[in-house]
Parts: sequence; structure tokens; C-alpha cells
Amino acid sequence: MKDDLIGRANKLFTPALIFHTDIIVKRARGLYIESTYGKRYMDFSSGLATTNIGHCPPQVIKAAKKQMDEIIHSGCIFRYKSEIELAEKLKETTPGNLNMFFFSNSGAEAVEGALKLARFVTKRQGIIAYTGAFHGRTMGALSLTTSTARYRRNYHPLLPSIFRAPYPYCYRCFLGQNPDTCGMDCFEYLKKMLRQEINPDEVAAIIFEPVLGEGGYAVPPLDYIKELRKLCTEYGIFLIADEVQTGFGRTGKWFACEHFGVVPDIMTIAKGIASGFPLSAIASTKEIMSKWLPGAHGTTFGGNPVSCAAGIATIETIMKDKLLDNAARVGDYAMNYLKDMQKRYPVMGDVRGLGLMIGIEFVKHAPSEPAPDLIRGSKTGKDKIPDKEFLKRVLDKCYKEGLILIECGIDKNIIRFMPPLITTMGEMKKAIEIFEDAVKTV
Ligand SMILES: Cc1ncc(COP(=O)(O)O)c(C=O)c1O
Repeated sequence: MKDDLIGRANKLFTPALIFHTDIIVKRARGLYIESTYGKRYMDFSSGLATTNIGHCPPQVIKAAKKQMDEIIHSGCIFRYKSEIELAEKLKETTPGNLNMFFFSNSGAEAVEGALKLARFVTKRQGIIAYTGAFHGRTMGALSLTTSTARYRRNYHPLLPSIFRAPYPYCYRCFLGQNPDTCGMDCFEYLKKMLRQEINPDEVAAIIFEPVLGEGGYAVPPLDYIKELRKLCTEYGIFLIADEVQTGFGRTGKWFACEHFGVVPDIMTIAKGIASGFPLSAIASTKEIMSKWLPGAHGTTFGGNPVSCAAGIATIETIMKDKLLDNAARVGDYAMNYLKDMQKRYPVMGDVRGLGLMIGIEFVKHAPSEPAPDLIRGSKTGKDKIPDKEFLKRVLDKCYKEGLILIECGIDKNIIRFMPPLITTMGEMKKAIEIFEDAVKTV
């Protein structure tokens, strides 16, 4: 049955689209996936950071069904309640004055819209993005994406006037520095760019992921983000936070920028917003949004009534069940445990993250290096070799034991722990047990 379906799929779909597992799902509920051949898995990938309140949450199903009985599609011809009510609810979750919205369907689409908004309002063309960033696959979003050159192969020329600053990914510093002594060279680099490559008054926006997602689950230093905010304000550059992966409770707060006490000018939201129904949003201030003139952007499917109803139910569930607190609590436990494990297993070069967005970077030690004992605790992986093979064996073992984890990073040597916010302490302990056993055995 399983092979038959996969064989049929392979004849029908382009190989460009890669699947992380060969599981064929029969049923999905909460944290769990049941395959057609009767195996049950804990989905610690959350359907690529999307099923933040679990698969098929009953409240969301109920709201979507009710909406389907009323209207499924509007195509911007008429107004409907779910869209307006979702915007009102979303306003309660977004930081600062980010309380005007544009709804679309996917993360990439929201990023495209955010770029257009920034260029339209500032009348400037330059965009600064970061090394290792992932912002999506459409041509504009892809032009900002450098998590791997593979995604960009054969698509050049991409969008012009995109400039690249080094992401403050300290464990693998792009400038080869040690975070304890560097004095934020990467921020100095950004400032230099504004003198040598593009004048600040030609830059429409700087777009950043508050925690680097596909590029490696790296958390930037607090001071970097604070300085970045100041710099943007000083030069009238819009700061765009791409919260597509970090948003909607993933890090234990509604949005990851809250950890840094920073409010961007524009924010992109998708993935977790509607529990898997296609929906994304651009959020900005009234002042900025009001300058985006009628007809400057549009959509046929964006803000679909059913997706919006699902979005309302998702927000209500996160609030009612206090899922942000749960994500922070369960995430803290996991982080402490994994950091402790790191002391026992030198192959775990770095453990980092916020809330339920945790990355574990596997490394080998170069033969010339001192014994692992002496290296432990260092905050740079500069001299350590990414260990993709080890990661693959750990993932395979976890998968056999019913735990789905996926990887990220340019070297594919980082495991992501990103379970839904509903994950209980008991479930997290069970997952860590499987993971530790895999690391030990491999
Ligand atoms: C930070 C970030 N931005 C944008 C995207 C693109 O989202 P989508 O795949 O919905 O187009 C992703 C997807 O992983 C992402 O992580």
C-alpha cells in the first residue's frame, strides 16, 4: 500500500519538491501522526513549524466547518466577518502599533508584499537581507534567501539592489570571530555597508529573522537587535521582522521580537497562524499602511474566509489554554536537559534556541584539536567540523522509534526540536529519551 502510493506519487510530481519522510498519513491529531501501515509518530516538526496547536485541533475544525456553511470564497468582491474578526484578534497579539494588515496565502507571499510595501512607501529601492536567511521561494523572496545556493541555482538574475549583511550567528560567525571578543564586528560590517555599498537614504528596508530559521536556528545577541532597531530609526529604514517561522508562539511569546524588546516597522506572519489552513499576513502601523495606495497590492485567495475562521480559533485556543506559557515551560525544560546532555556528548557542539524552537548542532572535532573535554563550553564552533552523517543516523534512529525530527543549516548538521505548543512535559521527556538513546547508540 505504502510503496504503491509513493510509486504513484513519483510518477505524478516533480522531484523538485522534497519530502522529509516516506510516511503516508492516515490520520493526524495533536502531536501525533498515524501512518497507513499503523505506526504512530510524535511530530516534532509540527508540519514545518505550522501545526502550532497540534494537528486537526477540534476548535479549528469546528470553526472552519461553520464558515464553510456560510461562505468559502470572496475574491475581494465582498466583505465577510471572519476576516475582520481575525484582524481584530491578531491586533491583540502583535507588538507595538502593528495593527493594520494585509492577508495573503503563504510566507513567501507575505515577504513579497512586505518588500513592495517598504519600497512603495519609502520610494527607496535597496533592501538589506542576511547571510543564511530563508524568506521563501518566489523570485523576490528567493532573492533575499541565501540559506543554500542550491535554492538559487539557474534562477539568476534575481532581484537587483539586494545587499547582504552577515547574520549574527555566533557559533559559526561569518566573519570568523569569537563572540566573546569580537565587539559585534558583524554590526560594524553592516554600518560599513551603508558607507561603501549603498547610502542609508537609498535603503527601503532591512529584513531579518529574529531567530535564524532554515539557516541554522541561531539566536542573535540581544544588543545586535537593539542596535539594528536604532540604526533603522536613525536612517528612516523600515525594519522588517520575518516572523513566519518564529511567530505564533513558537518561541514562547507571540512573536520572537518580543524577546529582544524591539518592535519592527513591518512584520510577516504565516505558518502557525491558521493551524495549517493557507494564510499569511503582513502587519504594520497605520501610518505606514495608509501610505500604500489603493490597488498597489492585491490578491484573489488571500484572507480566505475559512482560513480566517481557522485563524480566529487558533488564536483563541492559544489564549484560552495558555499555550505560550506551556511552550516557554516545556521549552525551558528541554533546553536545560539538552544543554546538560551537551556536557556528556561532545558531538553536540551547540544547543541553542528560544521556547520550542531549539537547534542542536552536531560537530566532529578536528584531529589537531585538544581533547573534547577541553573544548566543551566554548562558544564558537569555528574549528569544529559539521557532522551531517551523525545527524542522519540520529534522525533515522529517532524516526524508527516513532519521533519525527528534521534538520536545518547549510551543512544539514543541526537538528530542530520544534514540537507544537500543546506538547506536555511528559511528551517532551519521552521525545528526549528517544533522542538521547539515539545519540548514545549512534
Ligand atoms: C522565515 C521564513 N520566511 C518565509 C518562509 C516561506 O514560507 P512559505 O513556505 O509559506 O512560502 C519560510 C518557510 O519556511 C520561513 O521560515
